[in-house]
Amino acid sequence: VSFSDDNSRVTAELPSGESVTVLLYGATVISWKDAEGQEKLWLSEAAKLDGSKAVRGGIPLVFPVFGPPSPDHAQTAKLVQHGFARTSRWEFLGKSTSESAAGAASVKLDFGLSSAAEGLDPAAREAWPFKFSLIYSVTLCPGSLTTAIVATNDDDKPFDCHALFHTYLRVDDISSVSISGLDGAAYIDKLSPSDPNKTESSSSVTITGETDRVYTPTSNEITVLQGDKPIFRITRDNLTNVVVWNPWTEKAASMGDFAPKDGYKNMLVLNPGRWGLGRLLSRGMRLRGRKLLAWLGRDVCVLG
Ligand code: BG6
Repeated sequence: VSFSDDNSRVTAELPSGESVTVLLYGATVISWKDAEGQEKLWLSEAAKLDGSKAVRGGIPLVFPVFGPPSPDHAQTAKLVQHGFARTSRWEFLGKSTSESAAGAASVKLDFGLSSAAEGLDPAAREAWPFKFSLIYSVTLCPGSLTTAIVATNDDDKPFDCHALFHTYLRVDDISSVSISGLDGAAYIDKLSPSDPNKTESSSSVTITGETDRVYTPTSNEITVLQGDKPIFRITRDNLTNVVVWNPWTEKAASMGDFAPKDGYKNMLVLNPGRWGLGRLLSRGMRLRGRKLLAWLGRDVCVLG
């Protein structure tokens, strides 16, 4: 496994050709290539990679709040949209390599962020004054990328949190993409605030305009197809929700760091994670007790 770390990003490449690059800012995966060198993630050409703004593309991490914080939830009310994990500088904790019985090498990269870390977004400490630690692991295997996060409450009082892997998948053409595995799932339609509670009735969800939904799928596996061809299989472990987002024309035009403007045709954001506060708290997480309760969520993304 070849490896480089220039103190701002970490890249690992397998002998079979797959590679992954993680920016320490946000521990954001900004590239994942298959054995043929094809990029699997969408990254905006105008994304800021200098630590001045959350990265538009790749896999930014969402923690401890998803979306705009609810004014009704005092603990998270002062946070910015999607929290501080994606705008903090994480520490690279190290790498470990392993080999399967068949001789295929894989590599796991570990990153850490805690309330004591220098890299924590300074505004976050004031806005969310809890003691916590996070360990984020990115594992690259031939044909798959696995992201996993362990969150620990180091405080003497419980806190509520969300955690999502905000994954910008690269697709050839959104007009022929479909998603299977969501049928029967309850979802919150964020674009329909007066009537947000819906149930998915289609076994093959297509994206034909701006889409912003938080699903609670009944199955742990969803598949993204391009035409008839499965291109991503996403398996979740301990992650109750999947957000499906595509900004489409107008929203893409309104985002300064979104380029090219028709890039929405080549991306589909699928965020496996845990979300829910207030009356939906049970779907999020309440972490209690000093190191007594850690929580693990895992998202496995495999090429179909
Ligand atoms: C999605 C949300 O996951 O992220 C959308 O559901 C939001 O509502 C999008 O617009 C992008 O958020 P941001 O903060 O990266 O612009």
